[in-house]
Amino acid sequence: MPIYVTFLKSGKTVAWDPAAESLLDFAESHGLAPAFSCRAGVCNTCLSIMKSGAVTYAEPPLMEPGVGEVLLCCSKPLQSVELDI
Ligand code: FES
Repeated sequence: MPIYVTFLKSGKTVAWDPAAESLLDFAESHGLAPAFSCRAGVCNTCLSIMKSGAVTYAEPPLMEPGVGEVLLCCSKPLQSVELDI
């Protein structure tokens, strides 16, 4: 089943590219500019609201995001996701 990423604030829904390193990279490749700093799951700058879906982390982030939150820099979608960016 294809995975779609919806950027709610930007009004875009695009098919996930499995070659993308992270949701942050993927968002940037579609013209978005989410805030980031470390790009390694440490600083929480990229913490964003995830309205639906589920993600997996390459390495467990320093602080586990809460329910409905996602660290864009180190996550990939497991299923279609809706992000509030
Ligand atoms: S940019 Fe630092 S945790 Fe994502």
